[in-house]
Formats: sequence, C-alpha cells, structure tokens
Amino acid sequence: MPGTRIILGVSGSIAAYKSLYLLRLLQKSGAEVKVVMTPSATKFVGALSFRTLSGFPVFIDLWEDGENLKSAHVQLAEWADLLLIAPATADTLARMATGRCENALDAVYLSSRKKVIVAPAMDHEMYHHAAVQQNLQQLQSQGVIVLPTDTGELASGIQGQGRMQEPEQIWATVQEFLQPGLWTGKNVLVTAGPTFERLDPVRYIGNFSSGKMGYSIAEAAAQKGANVTLISGPVALPFPSNVKGIQVESAQQMLVEVLTHFPNQEITIMAAAVADFRPAEVANQKIKKANTNPILELVQNPDILKTIGELKQPNQKVVGFALETQQEEDYAKQKLASKNLDLIVMNSLNDPGVGFGTNQHKVTLFFKDGRVSATPYVSKKEIAQLILQACDTLL
Ligand code: CTP
Repeated sequence: MPGTRIILGVSGSIAAYKSLYLLRLLQKSGAEVKVVMTPSATKFVGALSFRTLSGFPVFIDLWEDGENLKSAHVQLAEWADLLLIAPATADTLARMATGRCENALDAVYLSSRKKVIVAPAMDHEMYHHAAVQQNLQQLQSQGVIVLPTDTGELASGIQGQGRMQEPEQIWATVQEFLQPGLWTGKNVLVTAGPTFERLDPVRYIGNFSSGKMGYSIAEAAAQKGANVTLISGPVALPFPSNVKGIQVESAQQMLVEVLTHFPNQEITIMAAAVADFRPAEVANQKIKKANTNPILELVQNPDILKTIGELKQPNQKVVGFALETQQEEDYAKQKLASKNLDLIVMNSLNDPGVGFGTNQHKVTLFFKDGRVSATPYVSKKEIAQLILQACDTLL
C-alpha cells in the first residue's frame, strides 16, 4: 500500500489495544496512517501509544482550540484515501448510521467522501440486537464496508460472536480492497426509476417502477470503485452517498441528462422504466371534469437507449433492460439488436414474484455475442451484483 493514506478510527472497546498492532501492519505495507480516537477509546489505550507509533498527533477533541485544528476533521477527511474504523463500537456505529456528530471521529466520518471500512466489536447479545443489526444494514446501504465479527471468547468471559476481526485479517481485507479492480475509476452511468409525463399542473402519466434495481446497481458499482452517475426519475429512495445523483422527472429531461453525461462513460446501464408516451399537450390549468369522457392525445417519447446505442463508440458498452409479458426471449433479443446493445437484462412478468416494487427477483441476460444466462430468485441487491459480474466480461 505504498503512498496510501489511511485514517484509523478507534472507538471505545477493549479491542482498541489490537489497533496498535493493526496500525503497525498498515505502516509496514507502506501506508501513512493518522489516528482519530473517541474519548472513550482513550480509556482503554493511551493516545500517546498511537501518537508514538503513527508519528502524527492523534485527533480526539473536536473542540480543541489548537493551531490548525479549526477544521481538522475536514482536512483529515480530504487527506485520506480510506477511513478504517477498528474497533467500531455499537455506539459509534449508531451515530454513523444516523448522522450524529458528537466527537472527532463522527465529524471525520461525516466529512469524508472516501471509502469507509468498519470492524465492529461488541458483546454477543449487543451484536445480535435488532437495533445494532439495523444500523449495520443502514451503514451498508450508505456504502460502508462492514466487516464480519469473529466468534470466540469475549471480554465478558462468555463465548459468542462479536469479537473484532484479528488485525491480520483486517489488514488483508484492506489490502484487497485497495487493489485496483476492473471497476476502479471506471465511469459508469446508471438510470433508474420511472419517468412522469405531465398532463396538467396536478396530474401525470407514470408507471410503478420503484427504482430499486437501478439504485442497487449504482450502489454496487460505486462500491467496486467506479465513478457512478445515477440519473433518476421520481422515486422514494435517497441517492446512495457514493454516487453523483441527478434528479429528473420526464423522459425528455432524462434524455438531456443522459446525452450530457454519456460521452465520458465506459459503461451505461439503462434500468429506468422510461415512459414511451407523453401527453401531446400539457394543460396550463387543471383539466376540469366534463360531461363527456376526455380523450387524451399522446405522442411518442424519444427512445433514450436507442439514441445512445447509435452514438456508442467502440470503447463504450451499453446495457439495456427489457420488461416483457409475452414472447419474452424473442422481444428481448430484438431489442438487443435494434438498440445496438452489448447486453440486455430481461424481466418476465410471467416469472412469479417478478415485477415493480418487489424485493425478490429473477432475470435472464442476453449478450451480444449470443451467450445467455439466467439468475436464480434472489434479492434485487444480489441481482445487481450478478448484472455487474456479467458486465465484467464486457469490460
Ligand atoms: N427505454 C428508453 N427510452 C424509452 C423507452 C425505453 O431508453 N423511451 C429503455 C429502457 O430504459 C430499457 C429499454 O429501453 O432499458 C427497454 O425498455 P422496454 O420498456 O422494455 O421496451 P421498449 O423499448 O419501450 O419497447 P416496448 O414498449 O415495445 O416493449
């Protein structure tokens, strides 16, 4: 890890003594390490030990009135390539999951847009408490890498799960994580959600897309180190913290944003359920009830995917989706060819449980070179991982 800058965050667990050794391992691999401690961590291990080993002042007091400490949390967050919190206590994890900022470590975490790895450490019952598990899930959805805990003898004397991983194991994971992978630094564009096509100031035509698939793909690609731009129609999901989110409403707005960003992308994944039609006219005032049945005139929306399929350069890969209710394979293959795609992800509404808003899902992948593969029924997050694995072969 020569030249890698790591912030080692230490929170108040007895496992903090192992962090001294972890610090040493990171340094021996060439990393520069600065330490941030929570006040309770200093009750287990003295800051002087970390200061002596790291060769840098240890940041503990957010309110310290010293030189250069005015925005030390911001400077530190910018300085680092990685924030590694080991041990991460239940309390620190809870504050991270809810965005609270009570100490220097919280402030560094909230100021950082870099990769974050946490190594939880706590007692068995605490670790398995629903609130702790919920916080861990929340952190994962924010893009934080949560390391598993070990099972064995705990500080309380009981046998159970919750021990912080051994420093060698954490060090190996950090090394693996920092290796440049296939997706590291790649520009990836993802679209997600429905588009809403306005009828009048209070109504629109839309569809039931929840955005879950596209958001999961964007989040997973960012976790693999890609620079992800996510263009989303109206959904109830927050943008993942590690992607550049762009909000749009209509198909025409989505086209403008996609065309703006497409030229720099190595891979574009169009998971959005773009409305095929929009009202020919948008009324300026609310359309009032009439005695006759209103007739809506619709016009075709641009086909965004087809447009970028035509613009695609040899170094660019484009992935589309197909939602079919009949002759699924034929229609999906037709779209693959007519939109000049490298891969199409087919959802069949005839597969039980598949559809908008569901969590369990199943897709079939058709590649340009004729390969076909089907996923099992798994969560949309797992489908996202499988789609990215399929894209590995395109990259
Ligand atoms: N798509 C698009 N622009 C549109 C319609 C669809 O970019 N106006 C994209 C979707 O994001 C998806 C793919 O095209 O990746 C296929 O969408 P789908 O609705 O299955 O097919 P359509 O092309 O709309 O064809 P049809 O409605 O006839 O099935």
